[in-house]
Amino acid sequence: MQLIGVSTEQPELQLQTQALSLQLTIPMAQESEQYQYLLRVTSTGLALHSTQTSMSPLLIDFLDPNFLRRLFPPALNAETLIKMTGKKANTVIDTTLGLGRDSFLLAAKGFQVTAFERSPILFALVNSGLQHALTQTVTCDIAKRIQLIQGSAIELLNQHHADIIYLDPMHPPRKKKSALVKKEMRIIRDLVGDDTDSKQLLSLARQQAKKRVIVKLPMYADYLSDDKPSFSNEGKTTRFDIYCIT
Ligand SMILES: C[S@@+](CC[C@H](N)C(=O)[O-])C[C@H]1O[C@@H](n2cnc3c(N)ncnc32)[C@H](O)[C@@H]1O
Repeated sequence: MQLIGVSTEQPELQLQTQALSLQLTIPMAQESEQYQYLLRVTSTGLALHSTQTSMSPLLIDFLDPNFLRRLFPPALNAETLIKMTGKKANTVIDTTLGLGRDSFLLAAKGFQVTAFERSPILFALVNSGLQHALTQTVTCDIAKRIQLIQGSAIELLNQHHADIIYLDPMHPPRKKKSALVKKEMRIIRDLVGDDTDSKQLLSLARQQAKKRVIVKLPMYADYLSDDKPSFSNEGKTTRFDIYCIT
């Protein structure tokens, strides 16, 4: 069984689907049961379907009411990531876009966000959600502040600087197949695996950030650096390690 194929159920989207297949270099799915995941092209955007489980499709909807309510004060200012950004910063590089939620929160706070994602599939999913957000009054000003770039942050960081550089790498779960691992995280893990180069990414980020580097990790994880961060914020399951530059 192959990991992923592209398909559409709408004949008028066939050409667009073929173009996406070429762009992402993933096959057009003829028999859906041959693929673990199907990236479906619909008139409202892209959605990722699991053929092996009853999981609901994954699509990036920045207008989902549960997410939307996190984007405005007071909820936005209570987000730990936002509290970790400190003062007098304007620009952020999110080196690990993933599903784009953290980038969107940072843009909602007013930061100009440049976000990198090396998985072409996740990049395409988030780009689809971002394009939709740009057309909606409630999210368009936020979406306008986000620039997505597909590629490896380790290569891209050399040409980019920002006040804050943010890392939220994939980390091996403590228990394999833990029921606590969220649906989205399981899908990302299937598509991209673990991020084994995140130590290297942190050392590069510390050279390129003007004010601070923020690293989000599970509570159980070791520091990504050999030295201690400037300070850490510990939650129940997640820890933010902050490296101040100035
Ligand atoms: C845990 S997810 C990030 C979740 C994200 N913070 C969110 O709000 O959805 C990690 C993502 O970073 C990407 N990633 C990790 N290291 C990267 C690198 N060096 N360059 C580009 N993307 C990277 C992975 O492909 C994965 O999609």
